Amino acid sequence: MQSTATIVIGGQYGDEGKGKIISYLALNENPDVIARGGGGPNAGHSVEHEGKKYKIRLIPSGFINKNAKLVIGAGVFIDPEVFLQEVKDFGLDKRCLIDKRATLLEQKYKDEDGASENSKKIGTTKSGMGPTAAARAMRVAKFVQEDERLKEYLCDCVQMVNSAKNLLVEGSQGFMLSNLYGTYPYCTSKDVSAPSICAEIGIGPLKVKSVIMVVKAYTTRVGNGPFAGEVSVEEAEKVGMQEYGTVTGRPRRTNPSLIWEELKLSAQVNSASCIALTKLDVKFPSCAGKRKFDELPEDAKAFVKEVEERVGVPVGLIGTGADAKDIIDRREEIGI
Ligand code: GTP
Ligand code: IMP
Ligand code: MG
Repeated sequence: MQSTATIVIGGQYGDEGKGKIISYLALNENPDVIARGGGGPNAGHSVEHEGKKYKIRLIPSGFINKNAKLVIGAGVFIDPEVFLQEVKDFGLDKRCLIDKRATLLEQKYKDEDGASENSKKIGTTKSGMGPTAAARAMRVAKFVQEDERLKEYLCDCVQMVNSAKNLLVEGSQGFMLSNLYGTYPYCTSKDVSAPSICAEIGIGPLKVKSVIMVVKAYTTRVGNGPFAGEVSVEEAEKVGMQEYGTVTGRPRRTNPSLIWEELKLSAQVNSASCIALTKLDVKFPSCAGKRKFDELPEDAKAFVKEVEERVGVPVGLIGTGADAKDIIDRREEIGI
C-alpha cells in the first residue's frame, strides 16, 4: 500500500494557524484531494491569499488550490447553513463534497448548545457540537442524506481519499481541546488527534506519509478551563499577541510562552514528523516576511532550536507573515 497522506493537526488549543499552513501546502505540494476531518462548524480558520482574507468553518482551507478535489469526511458534523453559505461565498459549486455518512447538525442542537448552563461553563462556540455528538452516541442523530439541500453534494469520501495520489488531510481544533487527552471537561466533544482524524475521513494508519503538527510561537486559548502561564489582555497587547476568535469574536487568552509538557504529549499521540511553527514574526518582529532560515536573527534561530530540543521533533516549516506564501520551508534542507 502506498502512503499518500499528509496530515495537518493543531498541537495546542486550536488557532495555531492551521488554515495558513494548509493553504501553503495546498498551493505547493500539488494534492489531488484535500479532505477535512475533525469537529464541525466550531472550527474557524483564516486564510490569506493574494490580498484576500477568508474565514472558514467547514470546507477545507486548501480550497485556494483550484485543481484539487475537496471533501469533508464522515466524522465531521455538518451544519447545512454554514456549508451552503461557504460553498456560495467561495464559488465552489459542486467542487466540495461531503461523505454520505456524515452527521447532520440540526438547529435544535445549536439551540441546546446556546442555552445550556454546562455549555456556558465550558465556554463552547455554541455551534451545536456537544449536543450533536451526544445524539450520534445515542444513535438518534440524522445523516446528511436526510437534508434535501445537501443531497447533490454527497459522495463516498472513503473511495476518494483511498484512491488519491497525493492526499492532504486537514484536522481542526488543537490537541489540548481533545475530549480524550485535553483539559476535560473544558474541551471539545471529540478526540482531535491525527489517529481520529484519519478514522473520520476513512484512511488507516498505513496511508499516512507525514504528520505536521502546527504550533504557534506562543499559546492562546478561547473558552474556559485551565491555562498555564496566562497573562492579562493588556500584557498580551503590549507584546502584540492579543488575538480574537474567528467564530465567536471572543478575546483569546494568552500565554506568551510555550507549554512544553503539553507539546511533548501532543507530539507523541499524533506521532508528529515535523512541527510547523507559526507566527515567529509576532514573537520576533524582525523575522517578518523572511523566506530563508539563514536570514533569521540569532534569537529567533535559538528559539527554533529550543523548540526542536524540548519537544523532540524537527521544525520543518516556519510562519513569518500572514500570507500563505510567508513561510520558510526547510524540510528538504533538514532531511524530512
Ligand atoms: P487555525 O484555526 O489553526 O486555522 O488558526 P486560525 O486561522 O483560527 O487563526 P486566526 O484566526 O488567529 O488567524 C490566523 C491569522 O494569522 C490569519 O490571518 C493568518 O493569515 C495569520 N497567520 C498565520 N500564520 C502566521 C504567521 O506565521 N505570521 C503572521 N504574522 N500571521 C500569520
Ligand atoms: P465546542 O467545540 O464548541 O463544544 O467548544 C468546546 C471548547 O473548545 C471551547 O473552549 C471552545 O472555545 C473550544 N474550541 C472549539 N473549537 C475551537 C477552535 O476551532 N479553535 C479554538 N477553540 C475551539
Ligand atoms: Mg481557528
